[in-house]
Amino acid sequence: MKLLVVGGAGYIGSHTVRQLRAAGHEVVVFDNLSSGHAAALPTDVPLLRGDLLDPDSIRTALESQRPDAVVHFAALIEVGESMRAPGRYYRNNVTGSLNLLQAIVDTRKVPLVFSSTAAVYGTTDAVPIPEDAPLRPESVYGETKLMTERMIHAFHVAHGLPYTVLRYFNVCGAAPGGHIGEAHPSKTHLIELACLTALGQREKMMVFGNDYPTPDGTCLRDYVHVQDLADAHVLAVEALLAGRMMAATYNVGLGRGFSVQEVLDAVDEVVGTPLPRELAPRRAGDPPRLVADASRIVSDLGFAPQFTDLRQMVQTAWDWHRHHPNGFQD
Ligand code: UFG
Repeated sequence: MKLLVVGGAGYIGSHTVRQLRAAGHEVVVFDNLSSGHAAALPTDVPLLRGDLLDPDSIRTALESQRPDAVVHFAALIEVGESMRAPGRYYRNNVTGSLNLLQAIVDTRKVPLVFSSTAAVYGTTDAVPIPEDAPLRPESVYGETKLMTERMIHAFHVAHGLPYTVLRYFNVCGAAPGGHIGEAHPSKTHLIELACLTALGQREKMMVFGNDYPTPDGTCLRDYVHVQDLADAHVLAVEALLAGRMMAATYNVGLGRGFSVQEVLDAVDEVVGTPLPRELAPRRAGDPPRLVADASRIVSDLGFAPQFTDLRQMVQTAWDWHRHHPNGFQD
């Protein structure tokens, strides 16, 4: 089948492009390259440079490419930045997604897979978190993702648009082989920062708070490997194309939490040297514990993650960063 991957030149998009192709699909990418990289794509994948804020460009792409389904990754993704620049986030993430939805229903009404986030839950007492937990995003970023989920559902009700929403927990790692990986312009993610510290690009690791109500006092997160997450997209697309699960929302995680200290211990083991760590105050907005109840995607779609060992996940991230210390500039 032919798939249009919007935002396919980014970290998760570029891994998904490869997994879709490995599953036998034809892929075309639509990306404005504001944070994605053309170099993250195989050279034989067509890249249409366009912006969702320009309704004509996405409409033209749908009309000319005639895809069987659309996978939508294009978004601004930084929680902290979203609080400082809400207008940019609402415009880019919500208006951009609205333009895409309108173009899909006006042209081909093909199924849509949308990348959402655990940030839609906000702080919750649920452990693990099921999909029907209360939705109380605490950041503009999370709010834009929730608004988009709701728009998609309204288009499903009104126009019959089939969709799957995937709510990612903490995505990490890189495709084995070290040729593509995480390369955001600004770095905030724990494993990426730790790898850059091991490369000498940062002086030390800061541990944001050790007085949380968790076993070692640091925050727990559910880490899912980017290649497994990419496979979740393949499963979602194929179910939709087969006419199954036409309005579904799934958590994507492994259902178990690792603390900041455990992650940093795993990085120390993988890089072979202890990184300097310093205790810092809590980071605003960090929930103590975010762990997915991922049973729904396992039972509905047969999601079966291959990367279940934290060190194995970190190893792939480390292989990417040490071979590409300057990201796609190397
Ligand atoms: N952390 C540190 N030191 C650092 C960086 C992070 O201690 O230098 C801690 C954080 O405080 C947090 C944990 O490591 O407890 C993980 O932090 P990340 O920044 O790697 O990831 P988040 O859990 O903050 O973010 C993830 C996704 C977001 C999503 C959010 C939902 O990356 O897109 O979960 O809460 F919005």
